[in-house]
Amino acid sequence: MTDRPTVRAIDVTKSFGRRRRAGAAVLAVNGVSLAIPARSTFGLIGESGSGKSTFARCLLRLVDVDSGSVELEGIDVTRLRGRALRSIRSRMQLVFQDPYSALDPRMTIADSIAEPARELKGLRGRVLESRVRQCLDDVGLGTHLLRRYPSELSGGQCQRVGIARALTVEPALLVLDEPTSALDVSVQAQILNLLNELQHEHDLTYLLITHDLDVVRYMADMVGVMYRGSLVETAAVTTLFADARHPYSRALLSLGVATDPVSPPSKRPPFLSSASGPA
Ligand SMILES: Nc1ncnc2c1ncn2[C@@H]1O[C@H](COP(=O)(O)OP(=O)(O)OP(=O)(O)O)[C@@H](O)[C@H]1O
Ligand SMILES: [Mg+2]
Repeated sequence: MTDRPTVRAIDVTKSFGRRRRAGAAVLAVNGVSLAIPARSTFGLIGESGSGKSTFARCLLRLVDVDSGSVELEGIDVTRLRGRALRSIRSRMQLVFQDPYSALDPRMTIADSIAEPARELKGLRGRVLESRVRQCLDDVGLGTHLLRRYPSELSGGQCQRVGIARALTVEPALLVLDEPTSALDVSVQAQILNLLNELQHEHDLTYLLITHDLDVVRYMADMVGVMYRGSLVETAAVTTLFADARHPYSRALLSLGVATDPVSPPSKRPPFLSSASGPA
């Protein structure tokens, strides 16, 4: 099967800071190219400051690239403006690391979940309400939470709300930037299992950024290793963990990872970390 990739980045470069000002510009992303096949998970790893989040922000067009291009479902998002840009934004969504700060504390859960669908898809009234309820159900939360506020929810519940928010616009791509690192370990496992289920149910493609190698082994099909703004190695997850080529990848992996093989993506058993309680 030759599915078109959901995302294709070609030679993406992004720097911060003006050379005219004092201090050199930071070359955060330096000529990164990759393709993420539809309905697969691409794990992006690399030390802090290596440019993972900046690259994700380039994909989502939250920042403009200096050069290169990003295609989402065949459309170059780096050149879009106005209505066309708004329309493509509904096909790519970000799930934040900190579930509390991702939600407006003054908005009810119902309003938070409804916001992207209202803004990006123009949904209103009954249609919007039923989309919100459906997405809340999809992430395993009950409708009794709809009138609550983020401060009344647990971290895991807030992260589920964040995922429901993203789902309301029916995206093709979800960027998951450290989606579980702010959560309790037992809750992390539940969220990862939920993300796996949702990927199959909603035909989602994931870009997963994480420092947790266990998470990348469990979730990812392909892995990319970033080092100082460059993608130094891309490989299938099993290949990378068994036989990393680049010295930096080997150094990163040697910092600590178990060696048992990962299961095929379509038949993943529930994630159970060593500290997990019942999922
Ligand atoms: N808005 C910005 N203005 C100036 N520099 C920035 C900005 N955003 C990121 N940078 C710089 O770009 C580089 C890459 O940062 P980025 O946040 O993408 O790294 P990261 O790999 O996501 O790190 P972490 O794992 O800590 O989240 C860093 O040197 C960072 O300081
Ligand atoms: Mg980051």
